[in-house]
Amino acid sequence: MPEEGRPRRWWLLIGLFAVVSLAVYGIARLQPFEPSAPPAAAVPAGDAANGETLFVAKCAGCHGQGGAGGGIGPALVDTGLDAPSVAGVIAAGRGAMPAGLFTGQDAADVAAYVAGISGGGATPPATTGGATTPAPAAGGTVQLTGDRLTGIRVRLDQPAPVSWGVWAEGPAGTRRLASIPPASALVVVDDAGLGPLVQGVDRFTVGPTADAPALTAPLGADEAGRLRTLFIGDPDLPDGASTLDAASGQVAVMRDHIRFLVLARQERNLANIRFHGEHMVNLAYGNPPEDVDGNGDPSNPGDGVGLLGPEGGRPGYTARLAATGPEAAREADAFTLVVAEIATAGRECGAIATVEASDACVATIGDRSGELRRTWAALRTGALRSATIALEAP
Ligand code: HEC
Repeated sequence: MPEEGRPRRWWLLIGLFAVVSLAVYGIARLQPFEPSAPPAAAVPAGDAANGETLFVAKCAGCHGQGGAGGGIGPALVDTGLDAPSVAGVIAAGRGAMPAGLFTGQDAADVAAYVAGISGGGATPPATTGGATTPAPAAGGTVQLTGDRLTGIRVRLDQPAPVSWGVWAEGPAGTRRLASIPPASALVVVDDAGLGPLVQGVDRFTVGPTADAPALTAPLGADEAGRLRTLFIGDPDLPDGASTLDAASGQVAVMRDHIRFLVLARQERNLANIRFHGEHMVNLAYGNPPEDVDGNGDPSNPGDGVGLLGPEGGRPGYTARLAATGPEAAREADAFTLVVAEIATAGRECGAIATVEASDACVATIGDRSGELRRTWAALRTGALRSATIALEAP
């Protein structure tokens, strides 16, 4: 029966191709914000395509087809959950959802799929953010979501006892944004219809009526201003960009120039090794740029702010992001370390005497590119978590 083996093998190949394409598609969907950023935390790599099959089998009954909702579980699409958080929920269960529906690689695969449909490659859920803002027993969080903070995600520490509403209060009045059904603890509104940074909101309220809210989350002018510079725009930055966008851009420029540096070494181009070495220093410390390679022309391919900023000068991106909260501050330390190592090696490459002598500094920098991306993704995630306001008894 030798002829029979052949068509089978073809089907196998076609099937394999389909699985690989789906997996690649799933991985691409995991990273909606920044194609170059990996998911923030390390979990076993999940196969989203397989995860979809598993999801249909055990999750869709409660969360709806494609996680669109409709069952007793909340919708999972566009909730901004990342794979580690989903894996956590699968392991521990939640509310009516049993713990351990999947374990091991299966759990990782489902988590990858859910992170994909929830668009949460980079946005963490409010639960983990809540760890930094300990809420009282009866409390919760309001997380502003979306790249321009147009959505809200309200999570209660304890389920609503009866049907509750969510309102936005501002100078223009009070507006009902959503309902929380009895025994539910989560509501997600993709677009609250209030413009970027949920404009004109002084506070969110949650409870049985707008007049007698059970919980409130004030959005003070200071807090709103802080979130505005972080997500929408900062007049103190070139082109008035938001801190997150501008910093993201500078990380990308540094990674480009790391590639150029490695290429210059491959091409044995001493002038370019020194040139891109100088760029590492100036991208890290900003303006005024240093003439590290001594060619009489201090050069900075970046925007001059500097990932770390000039010592004693105006703050660089890391300090600006670290100031957003404890999560970001912690991640900023790891990021700073990597950038500083790159800059130190860049200073060496920038003044190197021969192509051969540059091997060590080029290798040090080339090796740090992935770590630069990883620590940046973590810092960015930390900063995103700062868009979470605690809900407390009024
Ligand atoms: C028996 C019904 C049921 C099944 C089956 C179920 N869930 Fe759930 N799930 C729920 C409910 C209900 C909640 C909300 C609980 C709460 O918030 O108190 C939930 C919450 C979640 C959350 C948290 C949502 C958020 O925004 O924080 C995730 C993620 C999740 N489920 C994923 C899954 C996955 C993946 C599967 C399959 C392995 C699954 N669920 C199977 C009922 C279910």
